[in-house]
Amino acid sequence: MSTVDAAAAKLHPETRLVHAGTMRSQFGETSEALFLTQGHVYDNAAQAEGRFLNTDPGFQYGRLSNPTVAMLESRMAAFEGAESCRATATGMAAVTAAVMAPLRAGDHVVAASALFGSCRYIIEDHLPRYGIESTLVEGTEIDAWRRAVRPNTKLFFLESPANPTLEVIDIAAVARVAKEVGAKLVIDNVFATPLFQRPLALGADVVVYSATKHIDGQGRCLGGLILGAKELIEGDIQQFLRQTGPSLSPFNAWVMLKSLETLPLRVGKQAENAGKVADWLAAQAKPTKVIFPGHESHPQAEIIKRQMSGPSTMIAFEPRSSSAR
Ligand SMILES: Cc1ncc(COP(=O)(O)O)c(C=O)c1O
Repeated sequence: MSTVDAAAAKLHPETRLVHAGTMRSQFGETSEALFLTQGHVYDNAAQAEGRFLNTDPGFQYGRLSNPTVAMLESRMAAFEGAESCRATATGMAAVTAAVMAPLRAGDHVVAASALFGSCRYIIEDHLPRYGIESTLVEGTEIDAWRRAVRPNTKLFFLESPANPTLEVIDIAAVARVAKEVGAKLVIDNVFATPLFQRPLALGADVVVYSATKHIDGQGRCLGGLILGAKELIEGDIQQFLRQTGPSLSPFNAWVMLKSLETLPLRVGKQAENAGKVADWLAAQAKPTKVIFPGHESHPQAEIIKRQMSGPSTMIAFEPRSSSAR
């Protein structure tokens, strides 16, 4: 059970990262409580039945939901502007659930070829084992998405900026193609961070994060998040998570709740520092090639201006070869 914090909409976005979704216990704690519990008691058998049928809004069993995890889900939904959010044990659990849960054998997926290795494995190797075909396209070419569509295409997947090339894709343009052909668009927003890019507002249906990265961002724990419309998140995706069990540990959820409080400070500083390193690298003798979303020289600089409010914290560069010295 995680609820949408309607009151959070009135808060400044950065205040949402501190307060949205907080549920206080009867002890009135100031900071979020850590519920390291597997199960919950019921007043009677009818209430127990209601909890499992989702007709009673309480908690039942830790694989399905947990109060600390629910606070994280609710806070992230409020920040991202999503109707619903579900947390997972890792970023790859989030990607796998978001991609596999809505699909059936016989469906077809189109994805950008510039992907993090594990994401590419899911699309290119894993899905076909279950009868789901996939086509990889040059994601920056919008016509390539259209050309790859088949009558059974149900889902588009992309990362922008991509790991590790920092290729940027016009999300609104791909979302328009997805809508035209009736496919759901899933975006891995890890490199953009929730601060610098809002895929749902650009037309995406689902956003996934490795919360391991900026959301914890301090090397302490793994986690993932899936956000989007209630119908999708609390439909096929929730069912997939409940039955297959990649639940986020309450302890990790609590660490991430605390991390969200400092997300703008940390990511803002990291992006600023990345910019300084990128400037320094770019000033070195050629042929060093620097790719940084904050530089005018980025191949998709125009798209970045339209769809990102910050440059990401990452830099890609090609070191000078020893023969070029
Ligand atoms: C773009 C991207 N997506 C997904 C993941 C997977 O996240 P996790 O390591 O939390 O499973 C990563 C990890 O580096 C990533 O960079």
